[in-house]
Amino acid sequence: MIMKYAILSQTKDLMPTLGLGTWQAPPDVIENVVYNALELGYRHIDTAFNYNNEQAIGNAIKKWLNDGKGTRKDIFITTKLPHVGNRASDVKKFLELQLKMLQLDYVDLYLIHVSFGFHCDPEKFTPLVKPTGEYELDMETDHIATWKKMEECQKEGLIHNLGLSNFNEIQIAKIIKEATIKPQVLQVELHAYFQQLKLRKFCEENDIIVTAYAPLGSPGAKDHFVNKYNYSPDTFPDLLGHPEVKAIADHHGKTTAQILLHFLVKQKITVIPKSTSENRLKENMDIYDFELTPEEMNSMKKLDKGEKGRIFNFLFWKGVENHPEYPFKLSDDKD
Ligand SMILES: NC(=O)c1ccc[n+]([C@@H]2O[C@H](COP(=O)([O-])OP(=O)(O)OC[C@H]3O[C@@H](n4cnc5c(N)ncnc54)[C@H](OP(=O)(O)O)[C@@H]3O)[C@@H](O)[C@H]2O)c1
Repeated sequence: MIMKYAILSQTKDLMPTLGLGTWQAPPDVIENVVYNALELGYRHIDTAFNYNNEQAIGNAIKKWLNDGKGTRKDIFITTKLPHVGNRASDVKKFLELQLKMLQLDYVDLYLIHVSFGFHCDPEKFTPLVKPTGEYELDMETDHIATWKKMEECQKEGLIHNLGLSNFNEIQIAKIIKEATIKPQVLQVELHAYFQQLKLRKFCEENDIIVTAYAPLGSPGAKDHFVNKYNYSPDTFPDLLGHPEVKAIADHHGKTTAQILLHFLVKQKITVIPKSTSENRLKENMDIYDFELTPEEMNSMKKLDKGEKGRIFNFLFWKGVENHPEYPFKLSDDKD
């Protein structure tokens, strides 16, 4: 049996194992999509300051609640402190702005989006970029100070659970050591090509629920990165078209997307696939009524490419690897 909820260790809050991702979903599209997703039964929405769609998502949630379709407690909303606000003095400012846009009194989960920080253009809330194209790194990023501010916001009731995204094991361990309120969730890139075994074990040992972003291999990132950042399209995975995944899908009368999501949820990982298509929203929910066999699970596990499977290294932010808290090792090492 695969679980529909994960229990967060400190608050015992229930986090639906399936959520809706919203990166690259523009405001004019996402408003109806979120309303429809809630109508279809989605109860967990993932957004971020950087996705520029919190206001539209807030409109959809407000309408759904006003229409009497459910109560605030029925839904689990995650958002994230942006890279330009990754400092203690900015936590409350961004959180309050985000709550205003989301039209909520609290968020269920607030994550530090990335482990590094940029200096912020105060007018546009975007990173300052040098004439060379390099990003203005904030070399003073202090995770503990930021975390302490987030803890204060939790005590005030503005956040129910705290978590991290795109942090490495050493960075998480340091926060755990100093924290009163431990990280409840780690959101990282995770899919069949990049299974993050070591990090998952560490999270399990520390009662941290892992959320997989890009669980389908983020096919939409391909156009985004190639057009905007001149990435090579050849380095992008085609997990949805993988013949072995397809064979398993055919065996169960399911789609490859459903197999990829089921494979993760069966291992107690929460998933947040993004879709703006009603059919694919339905498809991505329908992952709980079948079981992969141990042999099929093993075949899926063998697709892991370790570190080589990573898509999101954030090098599209020119110079980011020079930040003292850049989280990834830039090598060919396997997990
Ligand atoms: N913390 C972070 O740094 C971080 C980074 C990246 C992502 N995220 C979060 O994780 C979410 C998921 O990641 P992602 O959006 O990068 O990738 P993803 O969920 O793996 O893939 C989304 C893409 O797959 C398509 N798709 C969705 N369902 C499908 C299906 N059943 N069959 C075929 N194609 C399908 C979508 O297109 P359509 O919309 O046209 O269906 C979209 O292009 C994001 O939306 C965001 O909320 C977080």
